[in-house]
Amino acid sequence: MSDQVDPNHFKQAARRFASGVTVVTTTVGADAVYGVTVSSFASLSINPLLVTVSLASYSRLLDYVRESGRFAVSVLGSEQQTVSRFFSTQGRDPSPGFPGIAVARAVTGAPIIHDCLSYFDCEVHEFLPGGDHTILVGRVVSAGGTSGAPLLYYDGGYRELTDPRRLGDGLAVQMHLAGITGREILDAQAAIEPATAELAAVNATAEDLARLTVILAQAEDVMHDAARFTALGVAFHVAVGEASGNRALAGTLEALRLEKQALLERRNTVERARRAHHFHERILDRIRARDAGGARELMTRHVRKVAAQVVEVPAEVPIDVPAEAP
Ligand SMILES: Cc1cc2nc3c(=O)[nH]c(=O)nc-3n(C[C@H](O)[C@H](O)[C@H](O)COP(=O)(O)O)c2cc1C
Repeated sequence: MSDQVDPNHFKQAARRFASGVTVVTTTVGADAVYGVTVSSFASLSINPLLVTVSLASYSRLLDYVRESGRFAVSVLGSEQQTVSRFFSTQGRDPSPGFPGIAVARAVTGAPIIHDCLSYFDCEVHEFLPGGDHTILVGRVVSAGGTSGAPLLYYDGGYRELTDPRRLGDGLAVQMHLAGITGREILDAQAAIEPATAELAAVNATAEDLARLTVILAQAEDVMHDAARFTALGVAFHVAVGEASGNRALAGTLEALRLEKQALLERRNTVERARRAHHFHERILDRIRARDAGGARELMTRHVRKVAAQVVEVPAEVPIDVPAEAP
């Protein structure tokens, strides 16, 4: 069966698999180091802690790792494309250091790329055959990492991770620079949030519903604290955006997050917090019930009421308005 597959079709299919990018490194003799760019990394086992990388069987790195008995896997961040390019260049030789690339050492002494997203410091567990590649299995003796955007490889090129948060980041900076007004924020909210709630009722996953539930539970505990309640109230709206399954809407709501928070925070009172929270609970209830029309209608009323508060009340003076039936 496999003999009938055109290798080009195989390669085309394999290119459609998006991966992260790592550098696998080891020591060579007493004074030198060597490394190779590798996307075939996988975490294999928890007990014992094992990882694998697949290396072309002719790779010199395999010989060096056989000799040293250790290697490190450094997961690259989005800013480390040049690092990836360096370690995928052929014809390099072991050298005392990597030119322009700082390294650190953990337990085994294999070099770990400075500023990488995460690393696995390994002792050799075993070498397994895999066609024209060799699967290097490592027993992890030290691991660590920081947060940040990963470097991705897909369809033969380096890619950026685009999630709603990152879409929103760029848009937020642009909006801030453009000096968008409170009125514009409220008009945007009135225009898109009812549709967002409607879509959320259709598309929300179990994970989205759990996230919305947690945000409301947290908000309930900080009703007396205007800043914290506002942050969680706005987070609820952003999470509804994510639950809509529409990244353009989610990115826009994320972008509005900080400006909206600043706009609403100084006007919030305990009573307003309570009313907003009640609306949020009922909106979530409709989303959970898959009632798209109900979610839309409640969100329309909610954003209209919030807008009325902002327009009628002078910015500096938080005033309690009488409670009204939501
Ligand atoms: C993004 C990317 C991922 C790669 N992944 C692997 C891999 O998983 N295994 C492998 O053997 N080579 C991989 N390569 C190719 C090696 O990095 C490259 O051939 C390198 O020069 C091999 O070093 P060598 O000269 O010691 O064999 C990859 C290259 C790139 C650009």
